[in-house]
Amino acid sequence: AQIKQVEFVKSSSKPKDCPKDDRPEFAILGRSNVGKSSLINALVRKKEVALTSKKPGKTQLINHFLVNRSWYIVDLPGYGFANAPESARMDWSSFTKGYFLNRDTLVAVLLLLDASIPPQKVDLDCANWLGRNNIPLTFVFTKCDKTKGGKGKRPDENIKDFQELIKKNYREPPPWIMTSSVTGLGRDDLLLHMSQLRNY
Ligand code: GTP
Ligand code: MG
Repeated sequence: AQIKQVEFVKSSSKPKDCPKDDRPEFAILGRSNVGKSSLINALVRKKEVALTSKKPGKTQLINHFLVNRSWYIVDLPGYGFANAPESARMDWSSFTKGYFLNRDTLVAVLLLLDASIPPQKVDLDCANWLGRNNIPLTFVFTKCDKTKGGKGKRPDENIKDFQELIKKNYREPPPWIMTSSVTGLGRDDLLLHMSQLRNY
């Protein structure tokens, strides 16, 4: 399950411009600022394969990264950017939904959820949309290293709350993994999980 090599392939502005080969791929999806690009960098152990920023909305295109010349990780634009106008949010959904519904080589979506905050409505909506469309899904909880100095709930409590809220929408709850791009928590678990999904 080790990553020996990773190369950036291309940025696509439309789903139909994505690479046209049959290598399996995993899409990294989640709210702006949840830590998608950071997770990719932690997985491949490189600082700036995927560009990160404190400012939400850094990733604007569909970015394909080829791993070990055999499978792709795809960095997608974040959704639910609080300050974006309604029209921009609509653009996000038609653009990215088109990708999910038409990408035959998609093995699974890794839906990233910030474990340092309570469950967010946009995240619940997204999880339910993917579930309704039968898109294979794994929940990847990010920022599990963060504790708000005793204020608010702990990551494990937020995770439990989230799972409680989506439970009724799934016959079988999706697999889930706790991660931190800062400490490396969950990195090996996630790589193993992805290799198992590729060889189903
Ligand atoms: P967009 O591209 O805007 O959608 O954001 P993104 O989801 O790619 O987030 P990005 O990786 O750029 O990270 C956003 C911020 O969260 C940065 O300041 C990161 O340093 C921070 N961050 C990401 N992952 C973690 C984590 O596991 N722990 C902590 N403490 N901070 C993190
Ligand atoms: Mg990003």
